Order: sequence, then structure tokens, then C-alpha cells
Amino acid sequence: MKFKEEIARRRTFGIVSHPDAGKTTLTEKLLLYGGAIQEAGAVKSNKIKKGAASDFMEIERQRGISVATSVLAFEYDGIKINILDTPGHKDFAEDTFRTLTAVDSVIVVIDVAKGVEEQTEKLVKVCRMRQIPIIVFVNKMDREGKDAFDLLDEIEQKLELRVTPLSFPIGMGYDLKGIYNIHKKNVNLFTGASSKDIHSTTAIDDLNDEKLDTLIGNQAAETLREELELATGIYPEFNRQEYLDGELQPVFFGSALHNFGVKELLDGFIEIAPAPRAKNAEERLVEPNEKDFSGFVFKIHANMDPRHRDRLAFIKIVSGTFERNKAYKHVRLNKNLKFSSPNAFFAEKKEIVDESFPGDIVGLHDTGNFKIGDTLTSGEELHYKGIPSFSPEHFRYINNADPMKSKQLAKGIDQLMDEGVAQLFTLELNGRKVIGTVGALQFEVIQYRLEHEYGATCSYENLNVHKACWVDDSVAKPEEISDFKRVKSKFLCKDKRGQLVFLADSSFSLQMTQQKYPSIKFHFISEFEPEVNRK
Ligand code: G4P
Repeated sequence: MKFKEEIARRRTFGIVSHPDAGKTTLTEKLLLYGGAIQEAGAVKSNKIKKGAASDFMEIERQRGISVATSVLAFEYDGIKINILDTPGHKDFAEDTFRTLTAVDSVIVVIDVAKGVEEQTEKLVKVCRMRQIPIIVFVNKMDREGKDAFDLLDEIEQKLELRVTPLSFPIGMGYDLKGIYNIHKKNVNLFTGASSKDIHSTTAIDDLNDEKLDTLIGNQAAETLREELELATGIYPEFNRQEYLDGELQPVFFGSALHNFGVKELLDGFIEIAPAPRAKNAEERLVEPNEKDFSGFVFKIHANMDPRHRDRLAFIKIVSGTFERNKAYKHVRLNKNLKFSSPNAFFAEKKEIVDESFPGDIVGLHDTGNFKIGDTLTSGEELHYKGIPSFSPEHFRYINNADPMKSKQLAKGIDQLMDEGVAQLFTLELNGRKVIGTVGALQFEVIQYRLEHEYGATCSYENLNVHKACWVDDSVAKPEEISDFKRVKSKFLCKDKRGQLVFLADSSFSLQMTQQKYPSIKFHFISEFEPEVNRK
């Protein structure tokens, strides 16, 4: 197959949702359609189970699973589909944000009874900021839930989306009769069976056709006609370009558990979702069909076996063909590297591949060369943008608890930070190290992994920080910046990339600081457009 055709037939996306909305169940049903797995229950949930014996043991279990589910690839109807795993647990939100830099579109799963939940709101906000095309799947229609119109309203308001239904439920819960596919003009009847069979559909080109009454009963047919008329009046007509531009979001309804409405979703997805898209590097926009290879690291996974310290770096291919045993430039290190056993992913297996194409993810064995955000190219000096760090929520000093093991501790901290488990800040005043995390759980994980993988022990000390603020002094007045550095010296540190960060101890103190030094700008995110470029 030609290079351009390979690109055109790829769809790389992520499924995002609040935990329990049905992401794992939906993923599994999609894989069944692709013939990638044979039975339900094959995809393991990477959820942190509630009430597990110990949180960090649970995280280890989850980590083991998430190696397997990081990328789930399958073929359907000639299309190569890559699903990138996004943890739903809020403590791993940063992982999910990073993965969203590697997807070309997303499917958002919403539980019909619970409606829009907190994690969904946060993740969709990130997708909106990046103009990622979004499809919404309203799940669990076999249960009593919110009225379809109310829910669509809620989605529009809470997620700030502009939606249009492409399928519409006929009843719900106990009364769920089926789904009308607005796009394809047919009815799919709900039988309640939870099989992998594909439900047959009946074409209803004209809603006034009596066939509809025979199929679902007079009353349901009447209601459906009224609802669809209302829907046509309220919601905009589907327009693919608007969807691709992130300005319109199609909605499908169904039940992942019963494999109902999933085929409509999948067929709709492969028809409208984008093939690999161009990506901005600091230097220029890179198109997928360029001949030269380029890609970036969005995830690093440490080996679960402490005796084999190698890690797997996940690269999203942006342009060109990635070939086994060919030398590529690691831009940050300015070094050429060859990979003899790049992994490609298929369902839950990984295998060595000779060549991969834009949209694909390859897993490269790494002995410590990669950091999240690194770029690999055929030789060009490119730096892909868009893997920022967000301000952590929790901060603690990390101390060495065993003076004989300080080297091990330093190495362990370094590598865990490269993996993106947490963020490290080094205080300017005394060189003390501060760890910042999204969830309190990560402190346990770090302590546990330092001990088990690096033989180092650490202790923590509380530190009162409200937010980490990345400092933009590109237009700062010299007297303001020198006064700020002197007065706030106790709170200034460097992040891993050497950027200056102000650890504000309260929102009040941040506000006061901002007022006192108006020419200095503070950001809760490490990647920002410096003021000097805006002028
Ligand atoms: P997640 O990955 O988004 O966290 O959700 P997951 O798929 O694990 O689904 C969460 C729960 O919701 C599971 O039940 C699952 O069976 C159920 N579920 C998913 N889709 C549907 C649906 O369409 N209808 C109904 N009624 N339930 C659905 P559980 O009891 O927590 O887990 P399990 O013991 O069944 O695995």
C-alpha cells in the first residue's frame, strides 16, 4: 500500500470519561467489532478499584494493566484504528492530558443517569483548547436516566459544546425500544441481548412510513416523530468540517454493555473522524505526508520487573515512515539512535515491526535517553509543542532517609520524573527538592517505587504551597524582577527544564505579588506564549 493511503486509513483517538461511565466496556466492544478479541471481559479495566488492600499496591496492579492497554490497535473495514488509553482517575489526569497531545480525535463517554461529571468537564476543556474533534457517546441507555433533550442541554452548557445528535433513542431504561440512526435513516431494535452479534437494522427513509409504527408501536412512533422534529428544529445540521474544526460535536446514544448503538458509533466514527493531522513544532507546521520521519514521546513506561530497568517510550509518529534499525536524531541530546526492536501494538499484544506510519504509536526500549516531550526526526531540528506541565495540587519536600543511598535516590527521582509520575522543583536558595503531584496517592507510589526499583528510601516533609506559577519575565522591568527575586527568594525554584517557578503559598499572596510586580506574568502551566511575543 502506498504511503499516502496508509496515512489516510489511520484513525488515532482516545476515549475520555469520568470513571465508571463505561470507557472500558466500550473499548472492549469496539475491539470485538475489529475481531481483535473474541470474548467480552478480555480488556482489563485500568481503574483504581475502591477499597483495595493498599492504594499503592493497587497502583502497581493498575500500572501492569496499563502497559497492556496503553495502545489498543485493530482493523475495521480497512481502517487501522489506534485507541490510546487515558486513565479516568483524577490523580492521573496529567497522564491523560499528555496522551491527548497524541490523539487526532476523541470520543467522550457520558453516563445517561449521571450526566456530565467532573473529570469529563476537565478533560473536555483540554480537548476544546486544542480544537480536538469530539464525538459524544451517551452510554447506559438500558438504564433509567436523564431525558435526551435535558442531557443534550447539559452537555452544551457544562462542556461548552455545540452538539447535534446523529442517533436518537427510542425510549430508555426498561422502555428502551431501540435507536433511530438519523444519519443513516434506519431503526435498530433493542433486544437486551448482550452478545457480540451485530443487530440488524431496518431502513426507515420516511419517518411517516407506517413501517415505523409496526416496528416500535404507534405511541413510540408518534413520540419519536415529535422528538425528531423538535431535534431538527433545535440542533444544527451535521457538518463534517465544523466537527473537524472542533466547532460541532455529534452525539450518539447506546449501551456499551449490551453492545447496542456501538456499531452506529463505530461506523459514524470511521466515516467522519480525521486521519492523522498536521502538528505544530516550534519551528513550523509538520504535515503527516512529508517524506521525512518525525515523532515525539508522549508517555514513558517503566518496566514492572525491577531487574530489567529498561523502559518503554511511546512515540507518536507525526510524519514520514519509521523504520527499524535506521538511525534517527534525538533532537534534545543531538545524538543519533537506532532501534532494533520497535514495538507496534495490536489489541493487547505488542510485536516488533519493520515500519510504522503517521498516526501509529511505536514503543521504543529505552535505557534512560528519553523524557516526555522529546522529539525524534530523520535529521531536522524540530521541537514539538504542546506537552506542558500543569501546576501540581500537592507539594512536599523529599528527603533522603539513607545517606548511603543518595546516588540511588537521585537517579530514582530523576527517572520517575522523566516518566512524568510527578514534578520536581529545586529551591534556588538551598537546593532542596520539592515534589509536586496531582493526587496525594502519587507520594506513596514514588516512595514505594524508589524503594523497590532503586533501593532508595525517602521521607517527606509538608510544604504549604497553593500553586506552582511559571514566571514569565520576558517584559519585566529590571527593578521589579530584582526586587521580586530578593523578596520572594524563599519561594523560588527551578523546574526540570530549568524554568523559573514561584511557589505561591496562598491565592492571596499570589494576588499581592502580581499587584506588586505588574510587569511579571505568572502562569499555572509551563508552556505559555511569552509576553514579549505578544507585543
Ligand atoms: P470505566 O472504564 O469508564 O470506568 O467504566 P467501565 O467500562 O468499567 O464500566 C463501569 C460499570 O458500568 C461496569 O459495571 C459496567 O459493566 C457498567 N456499564 C458499562 N456500560 C454499561 C451499559 O451500557 N449499561 C449498564 N447498565 N451498565 C454499563 P460494574 O458493576 O462496576 O463492573 P462489572 O463488575 O460489571 O465489570
